[in-house]
Parts: sequence; C-alpha cells; structure tokens
Amino acid sequence: MEVHILAKAFISLAFVGFLGLFLRLYSALVAEPRRLRSKLKKQGISGPPPSFLLGNIGEIKKARTAKVKDVPTGCPPTTHDCAVVLFPFFEKWRKLYGTWECKLYRIKLARPDLVTGLEARSGLSPQRRWRAKFGQVFMFSLGNIQILHVNQPDMVREITTCTSLDLGKPSYQQKERGALLGQGILTSNGTVWAHQRKIIAPELYMDKVKGMMNMITESANTMLESWKSRIEAGGGIADIKIDQDMRSFSGDVISRACFGSNFSKGEEIFKKLRALQEAASKKVLFQWSSRLEASSHETQQGHVGPRKGGPHTHPPGGEAEEPKPQNPEWQERVRTEVLEVCGGRVPDDYMIRKMKQLNMVINESLRLYPPVAVVSREALTDMKFGDIHVPKGVNLWTLVVTLHTDPENWGPDSLTFNPDRFANGITGACKLPHLYMPFGVGPRVCLGQNLAMVELKLLIALVVSNFSFSLSPEYVHAPFLQLVIEPEHGVNLLVKKL
Ligand code: HEM
Repeated sequence: MEVHILAKAFISLAFVGFLGLFLRLYSALVAEPRRLRSKLKKQGISGPPPSFLLGNIGEIKKARTAKVKDVPTGCPPTTHDCAVVLFPFFEKWRKLYGTWECKLYRIKLARPDLVTGLEARSGLSPQRRWRAKFGQVFMFSLGNIQILHVNQPDMVREITTCTSLDLGKPSYQQKERGALLGQGILTSNGTVWAHQRKIIAPELYMDKVKGMMNMITESANTMLESWKSRIEAGGGIADIKIDQDMRSFSGDVISRACFGSNFSKGEEIFKKLRALQEAASKKVLFQWSSRLEASSHETQQGHVGPRKGGPHTHPPGGEAEEPKPQNPEWQERVRTEVLEVCGGRVPDDYMIRKMKQLNMVINESLRLYPPVAVVSREALTDMKFGDIHVPKGVNLWTLVVTLHTDPENWGPDSLTFNPDRFANGITGACKLPHLYMPFGVGPRVCLGQNLAMVELKLLIALVVSNFSFSLSPEYVHAPFLQLVIEPEHGVNLLVKKL
C-alpha cells in the first residue's frame, strides 16, 4: 500500500516537473517570441515570417547558398561588396519589409509603373524619400531571438549613443561566447561592464599608447626580419601568407603590454584563444545556420577555394611571379609619404600623426572591410528609439558593412577602393559621418582604437619602406564571418625587398 502511494507521489511529481519544463520551454520558444513580434507588428513593423523554432534561419541559409554561387570571386577581387556575400538575405528583406516609411518601395515592387507619379505626389522631403527607398527597419528571428534590423540614420545615432545601462550587449553573446570572453568587457552589461571599462580605459589612452611605440616597433621588426629571411631563401621574392604573422604581431604587442613578457611566452595563450575563437564562431547562430548542412559550406569552398592546377597555382617550377600590386598608385603614394615624413628613421608619434595618405588608406580599408560587421544591442527593459517602442528582450542590429557602402551616403563609387574620399577627413567623405563606425560609436566605442591605429600605421609604414608587395595568385577573395570579418582563405602576398 505504502509503495503504491509512493509510486503515485513520484509519478505526480514527475508530471508536475515535466509540465513545468514544458511550460518554460513553450514560453521561451513560442509564447515570448510571439509576444515580442506582436508588439512590434502593432507598430507597423514587419519582417519575413518565422518558421517554428528556427525563425528565419532556413531562409538565411538558402539565401546565402544561392548568393555565394552568384558572387564573382578570384584574384584580384572583382567586388568589395562584403554585405552581398555575407548578408544577401538582408538586401531582400530591406526591400520587402521596410516600415511605414517604406510603403512606396512595396508598391514599387508590385507596380513599378506607378512609382514615378506616386513619388512625385508623395511630397516627401529628399531625406524621407531616401529613407522610404532604403526602408531600414524590419524584424526577423534567429531561433527564438527577435531582432530589429535598424539602419535608419536617426535611429542608428540614438541607439549607438544611448548611455542607459538598460541597453546592453545581447545575452545570447554571453551564452555563446562565454567560453572565450567570460564575463569580460566585450559581453558584460550594467555595473559589471562599467567597472571594467573604468579600469581598462585609462590603460589605452593615447598617452599610454605613445609609450608603447618602441615595443610595437620591436614586435614589427621581428616580423620584418622573418620576411627578409624568407625572401632571401626564395631567391629575392617570397609568397607569404601573412595571417599568422599579423596575429603574432598583435599578440606580441598585447603580450608585452599586459604581461611584460615576449610573444614566445604568450604564444600558448594566443594559440588557445584562437582555437576558442574558431570553436565559438561555429556556435554563433549565423555560422551555425550556414553549417546546419555541410553542403552549403562545401558549396562555398568548392566555389571559391584555391583550385589545384587552376589559375591560382604557381607555374611549374614553383617560382613566384613578379609582383603586380593591386593598387600600385596607393602603395607608391604611401611609400613616398613614409619616406618623406620619416627620412629613414623609425616612425615616432609626431611622424605617425603626419602620415595623412596612410590614414586615408586605413580609413578606406576599414570602410569596405569593417572587422565588426554588425553592432548589436539588446533592450534589457522596455525602451523607445525614434517612434518605435522596443520591448524588453528584443535585439537591435545595425549593419555596419551596409552603412559603410550605401551609395546615398558615400556616392556612386561607394564600392570602389578610393582613399581620396577621406582627403578632408570623415566629414568630407560622406553626407552623414556618424554612419562611419569601424570602431563603433558612443559609450561602447572600441577601447583599443588608439592602439589599433598606431599598430597599423607603424607596421604598414615599416613594411612599405622595406618591401614592395602585391596579391599572390594564390589569394582568393572570400570575405568570411568568424566573429569578425576575415579572409576565408587567408591573404597571400608576393613580397620583394626594396
Ligand atoms: C582594427 C582593429 C579594431 C577594430 C576595427 C575594433 C572594433 C571595435 C568595435 C566596432 C567595437 C564596438 C562593438 C560594439 O559597439 O558592440 C569594439 C569594442 C571594443 N574593442 Fe575594439 N577594435 C579593434 C581593435 C581593438 C584592440 C587592439 C583592442 C584592445 C587592445 C580593442 C578593445 C576593445 C574593447 C575592450 C571593446 C569593448 C568596449 C566596450 O564594450 O565597452 N579593440 N572594437
């Protein structure tokens, strides 16, 4: 009898436990996403219809596979349009699901013949017509995460400069990247983040970075020496895959700055961090979605990977070709400037600031290939941006790659590598300078910006004054998202000593 009662109690407990679990799962995976979407929908925001549990991951995967087949690849690169390679689905969604300001665009898709008259009669100001044309606010879902895509200029300003602790880094990043980043400054929020930022920021002020210049030069020299010996061994020219050298250089600088040790001691740490980064990037929803079926990734590799015996292999005999620089004019302009400013001396802080051409080239490279492709936030409580009430739990995504190449802001040559556009600084380069954000903007702006710029300038200045280089035929242009935008197959350069 007692056993019978115990069994009944156990079954009841198990049932209650199961019911509780079911309700929790139902709320997290179905009810809550539905509630958030409905709140946004009531405000006129639309988006691609999500499928059960996966949201829009299936459509993303399909769009990426299809687009990757269309994108021209090869060496030299035929397009600098990163957005079209990495986020082809956004292009479609932007056109289809802009907010109320985008109704004209929807009509355009259905009745192109009506558009001119409608646009003329709409009475929209040129700025509103721009927004109408590039309807930048729509929603989509990655699994149970609801995301508001916001590239509308005023809202982007409001979001990126928002100082409230109620707007933070998305909680899915903490879960996915926890192994790599812990509760560190990049993913933490609230007072934990504020405390870390207060401690770290002063260590990376320009005055501190100036004091690191000798150390950066030492790290750069280690790389230059290794290139020199590889060139000598190659009989005057070497085909160098520079990726690992770049990682070793920046790892060495951080090692010396943080631990006072050289890179050989920090090497183990950086190898492990790299392995963690690769593992973590596979878990990021975008990567995860593109790897759900290996075929989609294999398609990419089969399409863009180096072809044995094809046009990207060396000629028989294994000799590297004579370098043909991709932007010879710019390499020469930077070299001339470095020689003029430095006169053969190691660049110091004053010289670094005087190198205008070099600054323009770096700005233009970061415009076309911003390592951080998306700036993302989560509303940690109900918030309002522009006219939109953003419910707690909704994520906000600003597509930096798209903003950086919008022809409305940058002109018709927005996809061309043209450092001259930065001749009068960022304000002279585009209509809305706040939309140029390779280092982010506002309270979470990159803390390492000064260090990164000084490292880049010093390294490039030393490289151009010692070597000439061009893209190797081994190089295949394939931007790839691995937490940050990276060249999928690395960067091979043909390098010669000057
Ligand atoms: C070219 C190199 C770099 C680029 C393009 C870059 C870009 C960025 C961007 C866009 C953000 C803001 C992300 C957001 O708003 O969500 C950021 C944040 C950050 N970056 Fe960088 N970064 C670079 C190098 C560095 C370096 C060398 C360091 C450190 C030595 C560094 C440390 C940080 C930190 C600590 C944050 C987090 C700031 C916060 O959340 O309060 N970065 N970076």
